[in-house]
Amino acid sequence: MRFETWSKSIATLAVDCLVVGVFEDGELTAAARGVDEAAGGRLKKLISRGDFPGRATETLLVGDLPGLTASRVLLAGLGPRKAFGRKPWRKAWAAAVAALARTGIASVAVALERPDAGQLEDYYFGRAVAEIAGSGLYRVNDLKTGKKPKPPGLDRVLAGPVSRDSAGEVARGLAHGEAISRAARIQRDLANLPGNICTPRYLAEQARALARTHRSLRVRVLDEPAIRREKMGCLLAVAQGSAEPPRVVVLEHRGGKPGEAPVVLVGKGVTFDSGGISIKPSAEMDEMKYDMSGAAAVIAALSLMSQLRAPLNVVGIIAAVENMPDGKAIKPGDIVKSASGQSVEILNTDAEGRLILCDVLHYSRRFKPAAVLDMATLTGACVIALGHHHTGVLGNDEALIREVIDAGVRADDRAWPLPLTEEYTEQLKSNFADFANIGGRDGGAITAAAFLGKFTQGMSWAHLDIAGTAWQGGAKKGSTGRPTPLLADFLIHRAGL
Ligand code: BES
Ligand code: MN
Ligand code: ZN
Repeated sequence: MRFETWSKSIATLAVDCLVVGVFEDGELTAAARGVDEAAGGRLKKLISRGDFPGRATETLLVGDLPGLTASRVLLAGLGPRKAFGRKPWRKAWAAAVAALARTGIASVAVALERPDAGQLEDYYFGRAVAEIAGSGLYRVNDLKTGKKPKPPGLDRVLAGPVSRDSAGEVARGLAHGEAISRAARIQRDLANLPGNICTPRYLAEQARALARTHRSLRVRVLDEPAIRREKMGCLLAVAQGSAEPPRVVVLEHRGGKPGEAPVVLVGKGVTFDSGGISIKPSAEMDEMKYDMSGAAAVIAALSLMSQLRAPLNVVGIIAAVENMPDGKAIKPGDIVKSASGQSVEILNTDAEGRLILCDVLHYSRRFKPAAVLDMATLTGACVIALGHHHTGVLGNDEALIREVIDAGVRADDRAWPLPLTEEYTEQLKSNFADFANIGGRDGGAITAAAFLGKFTQGMSWAHLDIAGTAWQGGAKKGSTGRPTPLLADFLIHRAGL
């Protein structure tokens, strides 16, 4: 896909289609007025007849208006003028992309009406144009047989209008946005794959393949004997019930100064979470194939760093296992030893994410990280607390948590803090081991983080619980690609790009 900017008069733009905004009261945007004047009042006429009320997310494709170089105009509703801003603009562009994807249109100029700079500055305007286009044109890896639907033909998008001063920043945003949507596509493709294809070995193979095509990336895969040598007893305990062997993958992008402390990204890669002996109810259990979304986000982030040649040292660590019930599986009450030496009583085998993360978080110490971020579809409790709108963020460093939240706001991929204070750690008390892997139902997203906190002391650490945000159910069932935009913004800022 090619992204460019446009600035000259809208009637003369040589594209297949102009995407033009209309407010709900029928008020035309500046671009719509431009189109209307060139087309001898045809747009105003159409609207005064009531053919297009301008409601949010509604679109209408109009062909062959006179006076325009473009052969079509796609009207997109912006909702009420008073409420116009970044959100309605995003919705309108997403709706337009969805409508365009159903046509044979190959090139468009986005002329919706720019939210003012306070809401969406030039760089983020460019980024959003590209990210929303990329996400709207995404199609799941197709495992259906039979006649294939034609893929969307859209491959050229001009964003504007831009002034001479703003063109550079918009273009930079477009380039970053395209790279970010490519990364999000990697995450979504991996997460949408079923557990029988996307196994721990498959994830490791994908990381290897990525390192082969991205010059800055180095990869190291720890197989079971190597994991054993690292004494990752908690991770191995989860893996022992599965016929699929576990993998720990280390993907490095050394774009910064040699010796500069890296950002370490840790991802939960449970390729299928049945719950183990504490088995989950069968309804919607299929969704537990997404339980490796954190790992997929780490792979996506490393590919992005490489693609942007980011001057930053980043290490990605993936803990990949399958959680299954079996004669060899861990049982409630089992006590295992983590790589850190601490003993853990496994009271619920479905709280497996924290068990694999604790060992790789410990492993991350050797990189002497500037910051550690872990991404995990960790708790149903986080979904209860925040729904599907915000990623939960907790950690031991207020400044880092702030940095994550700010990145989420800028990227429109938001995170919200939950309190991680000592009281929650007390809920993990065990009579038999150093602590248990669960802390009861109350505050479940927080006690899960408190468990991880036992392994991150002395490092600057933040945990992102993406259980509610990494995928969606319903008609659009599938991976959302979150938190790749947030993570991308965090890293782009750290890299000073
Ligand atoms: N992968 C799940 C968390 C999850 C649940 C993600 C629902 C998305 C939707 C995790 O491994 C899990 O099973 N967590 C348990 C923890 C509990 C046993 C303390 C949960 O949330 O129920
Ligand atoms: Mn589980
Ligand atoms: Zn899980």
